[in-house]
Amino acid sequence: MFRLFLLALACGISTAQNPPGSFPHDYPGKPSGASGPEWQKYFEVTDQLPNVTFPFARNFAGNIPVDRPNHPNNTLFFWAFEKENGSLTANAGESNEPWGLWLNGGPGSSSLLGALFENGPLQIQDDYTMAANNWSWSNLADYVWIDQPVGVGFSTVDSDGYVNDEDQMAADFFGFLANLVKVFPSLQTRPLHITGESYAGTYIPYIVKAYFGMTNPPVNLAKFAIGDGVLANDAVSEHLPTLNVIETYPQLIGYDPEVYNYFKEQTHLCGYDLNLTYPQNGHFPDITPPGFDNGNTPTVNSNLSSLTHLANKQVLLTEVKARLGEWSESASKEKRESWTQEKRDLTGRANGTIDPFYGCFLWPEVLVYALNFSLPWVDTQGFDVYDVTDGLSPQSVRVQSDASFFLNDNRTRTALHAPTSKDWTKYIPYPFGSVPGSKDPSLR
Ligand SMILES: *[C@@H]1O[C@H](CO)[C@@H](O)[C@H](O)[C@H]1NC(C)=O
Ligand SMILES: *[C@@H]1O[C@H](CO)[C@@H](O)[C@H](O)[C@H]1NC(C)=O
Ligand SMILES: *[C@@H]1O[C@H](CO)[C@@H](O)[C@H](O)[C@H]1NC(C)=O
Ligand SMILES: *[C@@H]1O[C@H](CO)[C@@H](O)[C@H](O)[C@H]1NC(C)=O
Ligand SMILES: *[C@@H]1O[C@H](CO)[C@@H](O)[C@H](O)[C@H]1NC(C)=O
Ligand SMILES: *[C@@H]1O[C@H](CO)[C@@H](O)[C@H](O)[C@H]1NC(C)=O
Ligand SMILES: *[C@@H]1O[C@H](CO)[C@@H](O)[C@H](O)[C@H]1NC(C)=O
Ligand SMILES: *[C@@H]1O[C@H](CO)[C@@H](O)[C@H](O)[C@H]1NC(C)=O
Ligand SMILES: *[C@@H]1O[C@H](CO)[C@@H](O)[C@H](O)[C@H]1NC(C)=O
Repeated sequence: MFRLFLLALACGISTAQNPPGSFPHDYPGKPSGASGPEWQKYFEVTDQLPNVTFPFARNFAGNIPVDRPNHPNNTLFFWAFEKENGSLTANAGESNEPWGLWLNGGPGSSSLLGALFENGPLQIQDDYTMAANNWSWSNLADYVWIDQPVGVGFSTVDSDGYVNDEDQMAADFFGFLANLVKVFPSLQTRPLHITGESYAGTYIPYIVKAYFGMTNPPVNLAKFAIGDGVLANDAVSEHLPTLNVIETYPQLIGYDPEVYNYFKEQTHLCGYDLNLTYPQNGHFPDITPPGFDNGNTPTVNSNLSSLTHLANKQVLLTEVKARLGEWSESASKEKRESWTQEKRDLTGRANGTIDPFYGCFLWPEVLVYALNFSLPWVDTQGFDVYDVTDGLSPQSVRVQSDASFFLNDNRTRTALHAPTSKDWTKYIPYPFGSVPGSKDPSLR
């Protein structure tokens, strides 16, 4: 009786603390054995997908185990499109054609966002209709979009089975790949291209690290490519590159050498002027400037709390618009002169020490400088790296990126052999170590 009570208490605690668990759905015709080519027929997407009114490549989808001990429900979800009919289902050794896989970032973003809004063959439009993408990357090679780490998108996870760190992410990923290439045996030897964006800039180097640590990797890695990658912690990703941004866009500081030297000095004092060699011998040095705990999470700098809104692009552009209004309305000579003077006057700035107000948060510092003194913007359009229109096919920029109507529709779910134990969401704040709110401990 007492033991039962304790057990119930323990369960109660674990459900209160742990993030949600999920598991794959068994659809009719599922093979009973381990991964092998007989699974191709099961994974092939043969049902009509809602809103898809045009022919598109033969494709395969479903959940594949990562084979992590004691976590049979830990799977990754894949959606693979053939370049040519039969190219993905070639027999072992029968093809030398390259193949690729795509990862979105987050951590916690579904790669089906990439499939359905960026580089896949089916593109959800702003009115939620579906259109063909004639420039799908699956036109170049057999291509696989993969939801990972476990628990993201349609991938499934035990509630205590979320990855602890990036090494475990990579181990899971290779568990998945080892099974994927058993289902599609030609992939074992064909040159693999691992591609991704944003936080995949963290995933992919760890995947490559795991690859080079294996004596007998299940795949033949040829190349990897990262777009707009996040490679490290906040200090490194956001604040370290500030001087390079100024060097690239000196109009941010009105081409002022004194201001440039000021930012260069701050960069040095904060330890942001790393000098790396190629190939890098050993780990990159840790960068933990004052104001950042363990180089990972910025501690709160209360001086900057009134500026955090500037990190939001729309808000920043609203601010730019307001300043542009002031600038042109008050064409008065005095106002312009006072701006020019303030721009030139560096007294009160740190001069040899880390700036007491901004600390090592150099990015908001240069933004505020530009807003106050140089105002280099000519309009409020800004620049969004994800909105680069295709020169061959100028498309309208997407307003929404909500694939949940499509993916959670039972017809889609069934066609893709997706789980029923969870709904697809485009993003979860990834709970490293199965602890909600935790951050990636691998970032240093
Ligand atoms: C694709 O190839 C399969 C045999 O591998 C064949 O049954 C099918 O008709 C082909 N489909 C198309 C669209 O050519
Ligand atoms: C894509 O290609 C098809 C067939 O060539 C064509 O009918 C269609 O208009 C193209 N779509 C776009 C958006 O260019
Ligand atoms: C895995 O999923 C099954 C349902 O298929 C569930 O009964 C089981 O409790 C799950 N295992 C764990 C460890 O959560
Ligand atoms: C990197 O090299 C530059 C130029 O030699 C030097 O000024 C700077 O102090 C170096 N940075 C570090 C952290 O050693
Ligand atoms: C910085 O300090 C040096 C001497 O320590 C002084 O000559 C210089 O004027 C100072 N610059 C500013 C901008 O305060
Ligand atoms: C805020 O700025 C003041 C000087 O303006 C400085 O003394 C203080 O340390 C700063 N606070 C933080 C949290 O950085
Ligand atoms: C500079 O910009 C910041 C942020 O918008 C604002 O709070 C501050 O008042 C401005 N300072 C001057 C001198 O314009
Ligand atoms: C299909 O397209 C319509 C718009 O024509 C949209 O309202 C609907 O949500 C879409 N259905 C799915 C399952 O995506
Ligand atoms: C979708 O399928 C689930 C079971 O898998 C069922 O509970 C639900 O009612 C279905 N929804 C619709 C709209 O058919």
